[in-house]
Amino acid sequence: MNNLSLRYCRFGAPAKVLELVTLPTPSIAPGHIRVRMQLAPVNASDLIPVTGAYRHRISLPAIAGYEGVGIVVEAEGESRWLLGKRVLPLRSEGVWQHYVDCPAELAIVVPEAIEMPLAARAYINPVAASLMVAHFPPRGKTVLITAAGSDCALLLAQWARAAGAHQVAGIYRSPASAQVLETLGITAIHHRDTQAIQRWAGAADIVYDAVGGTLADFMLDNMRSGSRFISYGLLSGKAFNMRRSNPDIHWFLIRDYLRHMSVADWQAMFIELWPKLQRSYLNDSEAYPLQQWRAALAAYQSGESGKKPLLALSAGAM
Ligand SMILES: NC(=O)c1ccc[n+]([C@@H]2O[C@H](COP(=O)([O-])OP(=O)(O)OC[C@H]3O[C@@H](n4cnc5c(N)ncnc54)[C@H](OP(=O)(O)O)[C@@H]3O)[C@@H](O)[C@H]2O)c1
Repeated sequence: MNNLSLRYCRFGAPAKVLELVTLPTPSIAPGHIRVRMQLAPVNASDLIPVTGAYRHRISLPAIAGYEGVGIVVEAEGESRWLLGKRVLPLRSEGVWQHYVDCPAELAIVVPEAIEMPLAARAYINPVAASLMVAHFPPRGKTVLITAAGSDCALLLAQWARAAGAHQVAGIYRSPASAQVLETLGITAIHHRDTQAIQRWAGAADIVYDAVGGTLADFMLDNMRSGSRFISYGLLSGKAFNMRRSNPDIHWFLIRDYLRHMSVADWQAMFIELWPKLQRSYLNDSEAYPLQQWRAALAAYQSGESGKKPLLALSAGAM
């Protein structure tokens, strides 16, 4: 059996280095299942590694894509009950391909009530948002969130409110995000409104930042001593300057929290996550056939539609 895969053999701009290739599928390793992929989102977390940001951890050639949903088509022994089930084949090889093998114990079964576009993006951003709220609790606090129109920040903002934050504001770029934020009860601040950013940074107990660069520097310069700055992304592509005092700076990386998580805790985390996700608002999505992956990447880069691009990895997945 052959496998159509979006592969990269060198690091660089994803549109330049990714290539659609047909590769033979190896036999399944013991304890693994085989999943025919259906849908996978295009996230910042998928593209950043392709650029070489984590080159020390990635051996080439590699298949892109960290999360998605598919149907189990092969499973042996104790895992046979998974046959035909919709699962997230996570923490295995790259998922931007027709078939993905993953350890059976780490596959997450998707409840029937969850629609495919939500299932496809139920991992990276929801787990990151959930872990940040749990480890840097916003209860009773004033919270400021950047890149507020992103899937991850939208969940962070909603779950910070649900966890008892006193007030939550989000810094956005695209006008469409402002309306969404206000509807969700989140104060929307345009990224060029420096006075409002200065005021909110000065009042904030916690900033969750995914932008870095000059915006992070400006917020840090205005934050109070004892407040917390959680850096979980660098969408600007630029770091911020370290300072000796004032807010406590923390770096959040999902893998630091998952590395030591038991299989039971991993599975339990999703049982808690599904109902939270069903109650939450996420950006609309738009699916592109795998063969049109360049169009999906272009839609991601432009951000004009405000919709999360998804790759439809099998015929009939759209
Ligand atoms: N540390 C971790 O473990 C972890 C885990 C998950 C996600 N993340 C991070 O979370 C962030 C969001 O990911 P996502 O998948 O949720 O993103 P997404 O839904 O694809 O959205 C991207 C958003 O980022 C905004 N954006 C892009 N470049 C920007 C810039 N230079 N300045 C300000 N805003 C910018 C866009 O705003 P406009 O629409 O207004 O242009 C858009 O709303 C990424 O940085 C990702 O790396 C980190």
